[in-house]
Amino acid sequence: MSEEKQSVVMFVGVDVGTTQTVVRVIGAYDTEPQQVNLTGRTAPMASAIYIAPDGTMLYGDQAKRNAVTQPERVIQLFKQFLRTNKSWDIDGKTYTPADGYTLIIRKVREILESMFPGTDFQFVPTVPANYGTPERVKVTDACTAAGVNVIALVNEPTAAALWYFRNDSRLIGSTIAVVDLGGGTLDITLMRAVNNDGQLDFEVLASKGVENLGGERWTADGVYRQMLEKYCAEAGVTPEDVKADTRSDMTLRALAEECKIELSQGSTSTVIVLSIRPDVAVTFEMTQQEFDENTRDLLANVLETLGRAIDSSRERDPSFGLPDSVILAGGACMMPQIRNGIIEAYPELEGRVSVKDPFVAIASGAALYGALGLTVKDRLTKSYGCIALDNRTEKEKVYNHLRAGDEIPSSVERRYYTVADGQLAILDRIIENECEGAVLSPNAKGARCIGKMRLELPPGLPKGTPIDTVFDTDDGAVLRVRSTCAGKEVSTTLEISTKPVSEKAVDPFSI
Ligand SMILES: Nc1ncnc2c1ncn2[C@@H]1O[C@H](COP(=O)(O)OP(=O)(O)OP(=O)(O)O)[C@@H](O)[C@H]1O
Ligand SMILES: [Mg+2]
Repeated sequence: MSEEKQSVVMFVGVDVGTTQTVVRVIGAYDTEPQQVNLTGRTAPMASAIYIAPDGTMLYGDQAKRNAVTQPERVIQLFKQFLRTNKSWDIDGKTYTPADGYTLIIRKVREILESMFPGTDFQFVPTVPANYGTPERVKVTDACTAAGVNVIALVNEPTAAALWYFRNDSRLIGSTIAVVDLGGGTLDITLMRAVNNDGQLDFEVLASKGVENLGGERWTADGVYRQMLEKYCAEAGVTPEDVKADTRSDMTLRALAEECKIELSQGSTSTVIVLSIRPDVAVTFEMTQQEFDENTRDLLANVLETLGRAIDSSRERDPSFGLPDSVILAGGACMMPQIRNGIIEAYPELEGRVSVKDPFVAIASGAALYGALGLTVKDRLTKSYGCIALDNRTEKEKVYNHLRAGDEIPSSVERRYYTVADGQLAILDRIIENECEGAVLSPNAKGARCIGKMRLELPPGLPKGTPIDTVFDTDDGAVLRVRSTCAGKEVSTTLEISTKPVSEKAVDPFSI
């Protein structure tokens, strides 16, 4: 009789970041998430892929290093470009940002398969809380293309908060604000954990974020532009010359990031010798004060977002005043200005703002989420509506069906009517936006058409037949629709397609 071998289940929390990817796993018999060394030397792996002329691929820091000498062969910062139509053309093959995602996840899968042969891996990828449906679908599809089984999609700051609550029992019963400032995105989530007869209930009070606000922007605005200016003046070249010479530009970016990180470590000034070309050496100095001055607007944006998250929490719970503590996650939170700025804006929080496990909290929380089967009362960060004519003004308006701040999962039913005898389909555009109200203009800031909904109707319906459509989201905040006509299911499809934003709009280093 053959003995059937049961494979061991392992939960994989994977945080693909704009700049680096972190993975933590929990096996069926583990209580703590284990670190996975993705590149041998260090736990995180730079989110970068180098493709050699013979097709060999290198990942992580090895790939990033090649970006200095062969930038045209390196796919990096793909997460930042997910909403654009940027592509990398390497040896006649075109790679999209989503392909970059797939390549990284596939590499993670291969590493895990060789470390833990015969294991059944259940992946829990994390995404910025601020992602809308199109980005969430892209990430899920990219993971599927990498051949992994995704059991849940968790918001990055929610995952980090789970990790903090789990590791510090003093936080239970309190509300924490997680400020996740990574390389490319800012997410701020206020979350509460309550002990309910031995069971922990997690509730997100509010979540606000800004796409394209991360450490890369501090590097660009705080150091790179000044460095570029000085270099150009002394080398007698124009910024366009430097940009056109990708190698020089990459060197300058790497030096600017180094300078930014040095300025976090307490030093008030730093000196960097630029020697991009053998004949030109430029000395560059910057103080932390100058750096803070250059990035004042960026910090203001962080504080404004924190303010919005606090206000939104107060609307939900009028007894709420301020978070009991603020925990900073994400590498860019290591800049002293973030902590100092928060304390200056909210002096009551003095002594209650700290940086904790900035690089691994998210992946650890995601692994826990999968392994412990945690449930979290999370909230939508986007609203979803359709366009209809305003009866009074006869102008087009967006009517939100699901609203930012609604609990996940949430669902709402809307009734459509056929407008002609024998009508065979109903088409509607779906508008994603951040407005928490019911009605808005289609041109409102942040409103974008994310695709079409199409209902295929059975033949022979008379004019005025009601069709009921349910809009809801799955646990991962991905929009879904389904419809019925006289109690019978009607084929309803959601075709997600968005107009790409320009590459320049999301590239912090564009000049
Ligand atoms: N000591 C430091 N001081 C200042 N910035 C730092 C420091 N260490 C890392 N960073 C910055 O943190 C950023 C990377 O952080 P992190 O790894 O959390 O981002 P990510 O997860 O890749 O991005 P995202 O979450 O936005 O997708 C980079 O911009 C890096 O320059
Ligand atoms: Mg991150």
